[in-house]
Amino acid sequence: MSNYKDKVIWITGASSGIGEALALQFAKQEARLILSARREEELKRVGALTKLPDLDLLILPFDLSDTSKATALAAQVMNKFGRIDILINNGGQSQRAEALETDEATERKLMEVNYFSIINITKAVLPYMIRNKCGKIVVISSVVGKFGFYLRSSYSAAKHALHGYFESLRLEIEKNGIHILMVCPGKIKTNVSVNAVGEKGKTHNVMDESHKNAMSAEECARQIMNGINNNQEEIFVGGKELAMLRIRRFFPNLFSKMIRKQNPF
Ligand SMILES: NC(=O)c1ccc[n+]([C@@H]2O[C@H](COP(=O)([O-])OP(=O)(O)OC[C@H]3O[C@@H](n4cnc5c(N)ncnc54)[C@H](OP(=O)(O)O)[C@@H]3O)[C@@H](O)[C@H]2O)c1
Repeated sequence: MSNYKDKVIWITGASSGIGEALALQFAKQEARLILSARREEELKRVGALTKLPDLDLLILPFDLSDTSKATALAAQVMNKFGRIDILINNGGQSQRAEALETDEATERKLMEVNYFSIINITKAVLPYMIRNKCGKIVVISSVVGKFGFYLRSSYSAAKHALHGYFESLRLEIEKNGIHILMVCPGKIKTNVSVNAVGEKGKTHNVMDESHKNAMSAEECARQIMNGINNNQEEIFVGGKELAMLRIRRFFPNLFSKMIRKQNPF
């Protein structure tokens, strides 16, 4: 029997890439879905692909750079479904620009989209989960949430911040039956580099070489679903690039040499 049948799952960043793949795989397991991102038409496209009846699907567009209505959005979800079992904080935007070419407005936007918004949505959902004494929060971080990398300064900082926040929150709320999973993807074949903020705040608009032959979003989604199901606290998803995490841990001097030789794209 499906582990996700009738579970109410809210996915941000559901209009493409990893979020879309998650939506389609959860739908196959008869979950009830809330799909969020900015582009309503793309959310509707994904919604149609799920083949879920209207009763089991809510298209809820919003911009992560303004989550002042997070409480109202969560209330809208509760009105329709009466509970939220899993929140997947997946929406985000990467960066392909040197720190010195990134102005303060862009730095703040990257922090807003990749860090503050995630906290706001989570805090809007948590009271309902606490009331039900169960719930799962999933946070899509990155390997650059574990170490810094070329052209990713603000994005990497935001992803690092997520670990500090959610590892602390986990200790405070697990007594309420709430589980937190941190996911650190390496390279996944999506439009993440195309949609990244480039120099002077402009969209990067290029599919990085390293993403062209990377792990598929479908396989990434499958591994995330296993991580949720197995109540894991942290998982790493990707290909050979994940070796850098072990090298950093066990051979920090070697890591220091190797990281400098990596292609930023
Ligand atoms: N692909 C990778 O290699 C990789 C590696 C590490 C981590 N990640 C993380 O994985 C997550 C999903 O990314 P992806 O790879 O699937 O890339 P993607 O295809 O670019 O998807 C990003 C999603 O986030 C949404 N989004 C972006 N900015 C938003 C905003 N301001 N407000 C609301 N929604 C916004 C996008 O929808 P709209 O444009 O419709 O708003 C889209 O649905 C991100 O958190 C990313 O940092 C990806």
